[in-house]
Amino acid sequence: MAKKEIVMSGIRPTGFLHLGNYFGAMRNYVRMQEDFDCYFMVADLHSLTTHPDTKELRNNVKRVFAENIACGLDPQKVALYCQSHIVETSELYLYLNMMAYKGELEKTTTFKDKVRLQPDNVNAGLLTYPVLQTADIILHRAKYVPVGKDQEQHLEMARNFANRFNHRYGEVFPEPVAFNFGQDLIKVPSLDGAGKMSKSENQNATLYLADENDVIRKKVMKAKTDSGPTEPNMPKPDYIENIFNLMKLVCAPDVIAKFEADYNGCTIRYGDLKKQLAEDMVQFISPIREKAQQIMNDENYLKQIMEMGAEKARASATTTMARVRNALGLNYF
Ligand code: TRP
Repeated sequence: MAKKEIVMSGIRPTGFLHLGNYFGAMRNYVRMQEDFDCYFMVADLHSLTTHPDTKELRNNVKRVFAENIACGLDPQKVALYCQSHIVETSELYLYLNMMAYKGELEKTTTFKDKVRLQPDNVNAGLLTYPVLQTADIILHRAKYVPVGKDQEQHLEMARNFANRFNHRYGEVFPEPVAFNFGQDLIKVPSLDGAGKMSKSENQNATLYLADENDVIRKKVMKAKTDSGPTEPNMPKPDYIENIFNLMKLVCAPDVIAKFEADYNGCTIRYGDLKKQLAEDMVQFISPIREKAQQIMNDENYLKQIMEMGAEKARASATTTMARVRNALGLNYF
């Protein structure tokens, strides 16, 4: 059998996963697990750059594991693991730090954003965040990295660091590229029409995979509408367009077609529209929530799959690091 190409991605355990994570990331992971050699990582070390208080870390890490599996990721097929369990990551990060320049790191958009957000904690880990991310990726000599638009600059830096290593010490790493299914990345708008769903901000306008049914209903029913279109076939205001976009994710096509026709004919009732969306969201989210909860309650199972994932990731890391140390000339006898 031909060797499969290598895919790697990471998700930070800094809050509850939401519908945007599902459609932007997890659904793609699930699609990739058949055709690629996949490494999916919970980036607990990265979360220390912004969340030095680790009180909630343990629960968040477990939840990300449980929710990924509940969404259809098969821990037998992929390596689903925790970043801190692979100490080789830290070693590679150290070597890469010698090739990363202060100037390029300071120019990174996410760094500048975080300096603004947490002026009292501009730590070196924040500055070298893209270096650690590069180590995550090239540790497995991954080629494809399924990530959202906001990570494109980090991927470009990863290519630079990998190439710099190759030029200086010999060819070890392939160039990693961002991988997207289809042309347009699915955007999952927040329920208030202001931006995207978010792990930490805007919680009332974000649908979390852990939300109870009545919470889902309440959030959807609060979505912004108005008194309806005033003439046939009017363009939709953006907050109404958002509701239709959310419907496209979870509602049946004929149901959407009916509401489209009602909108164009000015007979639409937004209360009914939202009730439909709420029920379809409940249908969509509740099995994931229940499965995740069941997994969260089974500590033995969680521990077992975390160890299994770490073993797979470690095997690949060990091979790469032997080549890295050799290339670097850290083999003295
Ligand atoms: N920086 C990524 C984010 O914020 C998370 C991440 C960490 C990651 N390591 C990675 C993504 C490696 C892709 C590959 O979403």
